Amino acid sequence: RRAPLVLGIETSCDETGVGIVRGTHMLANTVSSSMEEHVRFGGVIPEIAARAHLEAFVPTLRQALDTAGIELRDVDAIAVTAGPGLAGALMVGLSAAKGLALAADKPLYGVNHLVAHVGVGLLDPAGESVAGPAGLRTLPENTGALLVSGGHTEILRIGSLTSDVQLLGSTIDDAAGEAFDKTARLLGLGYPGGPAIDAAAATGDPRAFRFPRGLTMPKFEGSVEAPGKHRHNWSFSGLKTAVARAVEQFEVAGRPVPVADIAASFQEAVVDVITAKAVRAAGEHGITTLMLGGGVAANKRLRELLAERCAAAGIELRIPPVSLCTDNGAMVAALGAQLVAAGVAPSSLQIPADSSQ
Ligand code: KG4
Ligand code: ZN
Repeated sequence: RRAPLVLGIETSCDETGVGIVRGTHMLANTVSSSMEEHVRFGGVIPEIAARAHLEAFVPTLRQALDTAGIELRDVDAIAVTAGPGLAGALMVGLSAAKGLALAADKPLYGVNHLVAHVGVGLLDPAGESVAGPAGLRTLPENTGALLVSGGHTEILRIGSLTSDVQLLGSTIDDAAGEAFDKTARLLGLGYPGGPAIDAAAATGDPRAFRFPRGLTMPKFEGSVEAPGKHRHNWSFSGLKTAVARAVEQFEVAGRPVPVADIAASFQEAVVDVITAKAVRAAGEHGITTLMLGGGVAANKRLRELLAERCAAAGIELRIPPVSLCTDNGAMVAALGAQLVAAGVAPSSLQIPADSSQ
């Protein structure tokens, strides 16, 4: 039996992604981003993102099919992100996927975007082919995922990609990438802020300012104690306010703002609290393999400190290439292939966009 050939569609935020996989073998992963259209607003504008998906979808699909050297009729199934994400943006991808499924008479799988970020971890490194049942590998037991992007900050425990996913913790306000973007704006570093802060921090002192670690108890400096229900949750809004206050103090005093030191100290605060809480949640839930996903996974300090803390806790850390950490269609296709292989029933063609879940 051949591994399923699956087309994956992703439109939950500002990336229009179409990916094609056979089992865990990636044949195409075409991404078109509307990022540049959002730059002057300093963040993703939902309606602009939705309109951009509408324009980019068919060319992106065409290119993915050409790259894979297949036609739509060849695929075994179509998978599409059903949520969470921006409602209007999701609806463009879902509508397109439904149309294709109906026209080509293919089963449709509406998938969860967060779980798809984890599914990408199953794709073959360097495209080597994989033996096993229907050419599929499965996730190691006790896998966790830390997802950090402009839209989400979550830690998940994945018993099975097809049936057992548990949300252990998430941000209660801004996403980690959003905190980077807003802070970069305060520092006049432009958008997207993550790469700008990452670069500015390289020449700064991360100990110059002591910025708050949200949802931890400051009196236990260096520990991650937090009140019960927020034990595994994050909060970044207080941090943003603290940075604004620091910048203001320099401006009021008429002194130059130490941008590199503030960027480095801010980054250290974010990365410290993300990694400390993720590793603790993983430890408490028996997670032995942790996957990193989302655009913030590109951050050098995050990679470094997470690797250090995972090693100390005996957790194996897996970091996919950055092109697969950010939103893309191959991750959706990879999860779709798992669902097909597991014999999961397809979704109805009336499946709604679920922006909240
Ligand atoms: O996954 P992604 O491309 O899109 C979604 O948000 O869904 O992530 C983009 C986010 C932005 O907030 C961006 O500032 C952040 O990832 N980012 C970074 C870095 N590169 C991108 N944050 C910190 N350090 C980086 N090097
Ligand atoms: Zn994402």
